[in-house]
Amino acid sequence: MKTTTTTIAMAMYFFFIANLVSICFLPDMFPDSQLFVVLEFADGGCDLERFELHSLSQAKAILHQICVTLAVAEAALQFEHRDLHWGNVLVKRMDSREPSSTHHLNGEEVCVATSGLDVSIIDFTLSRMQKDGQPLYCDLSADPTLFDGKGDYQFDIYRAMKKENRDNWKRHCPYTNVLWLHYLADKLLNKKYKANKKSQRAWQQKFQTFLKQVLDCRTVAQVLKDCTLFKDK
Ligand SMILES: Nc1ncnc2c1ncn2[C@@H]1O[C@H](COP(=O)(O)OP(=O)(O)O)[C@@H](O)[C@H]1O
Ligand SMILES: [Mg+2]
Repeated sequence: MKTTTTTIAMAMYFFFIANLVSICFLPDMFPDSQLFVVLEFADGGCDLERFELHSLSQAKAILHQICVTLAVAEAALQFEHRDLHWGNVLVKRMDSREPSSTHHLNGEEVCVATSGLDVSIIDFTLSRMQKDGQPLYCDLSADPTLFDGKGDYQFDIYRAMKKENRDNWKRHCPYTNVLWLHYLADKLLNKKYKANKKSQRAWQQKFQTFLKQVLDCRTVAQVLKDCTLFKDK
C-alpha cells in the first residue's frame, strides 16, 4: 500500500500526462518515505508551438511582449533565459482584451500592443540572474549532451550560446537572449496561420528584416531600440 503523498503525487502525474503537459518519471519509483513538493502555477495558457494564431500581426505582438519582458529582466537582474524555445512561451487569450500593456524599463514607460494575447515566459531551469551581487545560474558545461542536439534550430542556439560565453555560464552575456529572439522570430515566421498568405506578405517581409537586424544587437534593450519590426504599427 502506497502512502498518501505517493498516491497524490501519482494522481497528479496522471493528471499531467492526461493533459499532455509533461513527461517525467513515475513518482511511485521512490520509497514510501519519499517527500514531494507540489508547485501550483497560474494557468498561463497554451505553449506557443501549439497555440493557433490568426496572423503574423498577432505573432509580432507576442514577440514584442517577449522582448520587453526580457529587456526589463535583463536591466533589473542581468537575466538570461537560456532555454527560450517555443515550449517555454505560453499564450492565452485575454478576457478583457486590453489593447496594450505597460512596462517600466530603465525609468521609462513602454507600451506594447497585445493583440488580445497574454504572453508568459516559463521554465527557468537553465536561466541565469544576479541578485545582490550574487550570480544564480546552472552550469551548463556539466551537461555536454545539451550541445549535441540536431534536427531543430533550437539545438543550434545552445551551441551559439556556448560559443558566445566560451562555456562560462556564470558570466552575464545578454547576447544569449538575442539568440533566442532570432530563434523565436524564425519559428513565428514559419508557423501556419489562419489568415491567407497574400494578406501576410507585408508582415513576412517585416519578420525577414527582423531576422537580418536582430543578431547585430548585443542586448534585448538594443533590439527594442534598433529593430524596425517594433516601430511599425
Ligand atoms: N503555468 C502554466 N500554465 C499552463 N501550462 C503550463 C504551465 N507551466 C507549464 N506548462 C506546460 O507544461 C510544459 C512543461 O513545463 P515546463 O515548466 O517547461 O517544464 P519542463 O522542464 O518539463 O520543460 C510547458 O511546455 C507547458 O505546455
Ligand atoms: Mg520547458
